Amino acid sequence: MIKFENVSKNYKDKCVLKNINLEIEKGHLVTFIGESGCGKTTTLKMINRLIKPSLGKVFINGENIETKDVIELRRRMGYVIQQTGLFPHMTVKDNIEIIPKAEKRNPETIRKRTYELMEMVGLKPDEYLHRYPTELSGGQQQRVGVARAFATDPEIILMDEPFSALDPITRVGLQDELINLQSQLKKTIVFVTHDMDEAIKIADMICIMQHGEILQYDTPENILKNPCNDFVSEFVGKNRIWTSPEYIKAEDVMISSPVTCQKNMSLLRCIEKMRSYKVDSLMVIENTTNRLLGIVNARQIQLQSDHSQEVGNIMSADFLSVSPENNIIEILKIVEENQVTNIPVLDNNNTLLGLITKSSLVTTLSQQYLETEEEYS
Ligand SMILES: Nc1ncnc2c1ncn2[C@@H]1O[C@H](COP(=O)(O)OP(=O)(O)O)[C@@H](O)[C@H]1O
Ligand SMILES: [Mg+2]
Repeated sequence: MIKFENVSKNYKDKCVLKNINLEIEKGHLVTFIGESGCGKTTTLKMINRLIKPSLGKVFINGENIETKDVIELRRRMGYVIQQTGLFPHMTVKDNIEIIPKAEKRNPETIRKRTYELMEMVGLKPDEYLHRYPTELSGGQQQRVGVARAFATDPEIILMDEPFSALDPITRVGLQDELINLQSQLKKTIVFVTHDMDEAIKIADMICIMQHGEILQYDTPENILKNPCNDFVSEFVGKNRIWTSPEYIKAEDVMISSPVTCQKNMSLLRCIEKMRSYKVDSLMVIENTTNRLLGIVNARQIQLQSDHSQEVGNIMSADFLSVSPENNIIEILKIVEENQVTNIPVLDNNNTLLGLITKSSLVTTLSQQYLETEEEYS
C-alpha cells in the first residue's frame, strides 16, 4: 500500500502540490489525471524518490520511504515513461534483462521470464528479442518498455503517460495488454494520463487533480455518475458515461417504488389499483418480506370471468428478473431476447427493489442525446 500524508511541494515560492493525502491499495491500478502542469508527474516521482516532498511523508507498506535505501527502493518498482528510455545500443532482450541480470538472478529463470513477458505484451519473442529499439515501431518499443517494467516482478509499477505519444489504435491495443497483464499479475500500478477514456478504461481508482490538489479520488463509476464539482463534471464530459454503458446499472435505471399488491387481493381490487396508479401490471409481493411472488397484468385479469378470486391464483410466478448490478447492456439484451418490457429488480433473497419499465429505459437512453438535464425536463 502506498500512502501520501500531508505532502506538499514548493519550488522557491511556487507551490505545485498542496497537502496531498492519498492511499493506494495493494493490487490496484490508480490513474492520476488532470490538465498539464497540475502536479501528476511530481506526485508520481515522489513514490520512487526522484522528487522529495517539501512537507509531508510518503509510506510504502507502512514504512516511510525516506528511511529506505534509494537503490533498493527503486529496484522494487518498475518505471515506464513516454520516451520509453530503452537503451538504443542494446537488443530488446538485453533491455528487458538488464536489472534481473544485475541482480544476478538465475539465468534460466530470467530467460523464461523474458519469453513470458514478450508474449504477454503481444510481441513474438523469436521475432523481436534480438532486434534493437530503432528496429521497432513506437508502439512496439513501448511494449518492450512495459515488459521491462514487469521483468523484476516488482511490487509497484509507475507509469507516466506511457502511451500518450502513440496513435489511437496502438494506444488502445496497449491498454488492452495492460489490463490483461494486470488481471494476471495484480501489481500496484500508478498510471499518469491526461486521457479520460484511458483512465476510465484501465483504472480501479481515478485521482483527478487540479492546481496541485486532489479534487476527487474515486472509482471510475462514481467519477462518471457523481462528479464532485463543476470542474470534474466538465473534465469528465457530460455524456461520457455512454462510452462505458456497463457502468449504468439496473438500480440507476429502475423505478424504485413499483406498484404492488398481496396475493390474496381480489382481481377486482387489482383492477382498481391499476387504474388509480395508471399502470398495466402489479408486482405481487409477500406481505412481510417484500419478496416477489409473481406478476399480474391487466390482460391476464381481463381474461378471467370471476373477478372475486384472488390474484395469487392467476399471477405468473415464472418471471424474468435482474439484479441491481446488472448493466444496461445486459438489460437491453434481456428485453430484446424475451420481448418483455417490465423486468423486476430483485436482490439475492428475491426481495423486490424496483422495476425496469419501457419508460424508465427510454428515459435513460434518451439522456445520451440531450445536452443538459434542464433541457430534458
Ligand atoms: N524543477 C522544477 N522547478 C520549478 N517548477 C517545476 C519543476 N518541476 C515542475 N515544476 C512545476 O510544477 C508543476 C507541476 O508539474 P508536473 O508535476 O510535471 O505536472 P504534470 O505532470 O501534471 O503535467 C508545473 O507547474 C511545473 O511547471
Ligand atoms: Mg507530467
